[in-house]
Amino acid sequence: MKKFNVAVAGATGMVGRKMLEVLHERNFPVNNIYAFASYRSAGNKIKYGDKELTVEELTERSFDRKIDIALFSAGASTSLKFAPIAARKGTIVIDNSSAWRMDKLAPLVVPEVNPEDVKWNKGIIANPNCSTIQAVVALKPLNDKYKIKRIVYSTYQSVSGAGMGGYMDLENGYKGEPPKKFVHPIAGNCLPHIDSFLPDGYTKEEMKMVNETRKILHDESLRITATTVRVPVFYSHSESINVEFEKDFDIDELRDLLSNSPGVVVQDDPEKNEYPMPIYAAGKDEVFVGRIRRDNSVNSGINIWVVADNIRKGAATNAVQIAEILIKNK
Ligand code: A2P
Repeated sequence: MKKFNVAVAGATGMVGRKMLEVLHERNFPVNNIYAFASYRSAGNKIKYGDKELTVEELTERSFDRKIDIALFSAGASTSLKFAPIAARKGTIVIDNSSAWRMDKLAPLVVPEVNPEDVKWNKGIIANPNCSTIQAVVALKPLNDKYKIKRIVYSTYQSVSGAGMGGYMDLENGYKGEPPKKFVHPIAGNCLPHIDSFLPDGYTKEEMKMVNETRKILHDESLRITATTVRVPVFYSHSESINVEFEKDFDIDELRDLLSNSPGVVVQDDPEKNEYPMPIYAAGKDEVFVGRIRRDNSVNSGINIWVVADNIRKGAATNAVQIAEILIKNK
């Protein structure tokens, strides 16, 4: 089997470490593997299976050697600068930052939803926002069958979505320490504020969900609104999603459709108190869907509760799945 030279940029971060772990655990056919981060981590050791990699500083020369695929998770400004350098040298970049997601030349891909978009990449493929990924995995089969008219997203997002700094704010917050990453304490609190505010009062995170959902589902006119909230949970984002359809549906048929959809696990038995929860979704790659019920306030609508591990399916696993499509096409 052909093997590939792979790099992870941002390898010391929350998502970068998970990318290395997922590459190893899914037996990605790796020849050489490189770990890049900032100058601060250069020389540090990082785990890849039972091997240790030495972290290198990411520089303009990093891609002078042959690297087939680079998974980036080192923030938008790092991606804006280094992804084009890598692409010019013949590396295909799968970028987890927000830098390229809305770029017309970069496909935005969730393998269960729009794998075909990988083909038109020009060297950079964007990995969507964590909250968008889990939502569209659940919504794609429903859109195909009943045609979505409008979506209302309300999210309950874990602190790991804000990287190491977010994680430490919750852990240290419970010890009484003030926050460093968030602008308010997160321990015992909820922050209706993820990423920065835009002039119209929405946050960038909310508009990522709106714009990325449209791009991935190939429907620029889809009506969507969102409220995104950070909650004191370490791993996994939860989302209440209200959907209105063009066509009518049968609720049992809709539940069956979700149960048979790729990447989805339905957990929906209220009598047994069974529904998705973040502590149980953590460490898994599936998107868990429950609380499936008709919205009686409109002609054809539902409410669902969708939970997934934001570091795995919401970031690292999705990026590695994109890499798997790439090597299948080679
Ligand atoms: P470093 O650890 O050397 O700062 P997180 O989102 O979990 O905080 O992780 C961010 C990741 O992005 C880390 O691996 C971090 O490396 C990396 N990073 C941040 N700035 C740069 C940069 N200018 N060049 C390369 N990597 C960077």
